[in-house]
Amino acid sequence: MTFMRDEIFEQPAIVARLAADLAPYRAAVAGARAAGVRFVLYAARGTSDNAAVFGKYLSTIHAGLPAGLAVPSSATVYDTPIDLRQCLVVGISQSGETPDVAEYVAHARQAGARTIAITNDDDSLLARQADTVLATHAGHERAVAATKTYTSQLAVLALFWATWCDDDVLLGALQAGVSDAMRAALSLDGEIAEIAQWLRFSERLLVTARGYNFATALEAALKFKETSYIAAMPYSAADLMHGPIAIVEPGYPALLFALTGRALPAMRQLERDLLERRAELVVVEDSPEGGQSGKRRGLRLPRTTPEALSPLVAIVPGQLLALHLAAARGYDPDSPRGLNKVTKTL
Ligand code: F6R
Repeated sequence: MTFMRDEIFEQPAIVARLAADLAPYRAAVAGARAAGVRFVLYAARGTSDNAAVFGKYLSTIHAGLPAGLAVPSSATVYDTPIDLRQCLVVGISQSGETPDVAEYVAHARQAGARTIAITNDDDSLLARQADTVLATHAGHERAVAATKTYTSQLAVLALFWATWCDDDVLLGALQAGVSDAMRAALSLDGEIAEIAQWLRFSERLLVTARGYNFATALEAALKFKETSYIAAMPYSAADLMHGPIAIVEPGYPALLFALTGRALPAMRQLERDLLERRAELVVVEDSPEGGQSGKRRGLRLPRTTPEALSPLVAIVPGQLLALHLAAARGYDPDSPRGLNKVTKTL
């Protein structure tokens, strides 16, 4: 048993717990609306930055607000004055102790932004800089590789934007179906252990998705690098076509996230292109079309999650694969070499 495994299995309960109380999100939305927010910037590092990418897609596609990732060095290195009135700045950090994220949020507040901190420690440095704190309530994370804090950040972001949009379908799914789908994803554990045996000698892995699940590709690739030391390259399926796909030769391993929704046709097209190049695929999917073959292993999730929430579920097989790959390659996923839980970037 490892901390990482325990924490992966805690995730459905954490998401259900967060969704049971909407009061913090209603208050945060009211504060942002009163500030006349018209655009959104996210500041974060590592796994939290991958959650920020999900936030960027949600606020742009779901809430219709222009959104992007902040440039923390504009505050911490270049000391650039920026006018951030009518901007919502969301700092995300599980520890709340990543200095440049906290400093960016403090600068942004002075520059006129409305600020929110999403953190697992509501008494942290980051929490103290923001107008509003949305706590992720995931419990202490003991594994160096973040898992439960990632999905709790996704859940908080989804709850905030679903509340902003008054979207009862998303809120209802967050309160019930998403946790069930995460549990179903956890039941793929045995299949994923077999896939890890298949992939264990690979030193490289392409990881790709489109739309909301681009965050999933980024986060899964980070977990493979941290726990298994595999050179996992994450790409949006669109960017992959613009050059990097040239790297794919027969036998090249690729992990695809192909979930039901508007991004699915692009993922199916990419899958055909990769199979033509005789790549070897693992496909996380929720529809029966794909199937299994010598060159393709499908990992089937239930088809119940709205596309905008599918990253909460789709990352679970990615986390389990990172865990099993570490074991299959003889590494301890709780002790990634040379990494600490808090990294102090400036
Ligand atoms: C990944 C990981 C790191 C952290 C990053 C940010 O598994 O643990 O990449 O996500 O150092 O840390 P926080 O979220 O504490 O700011």
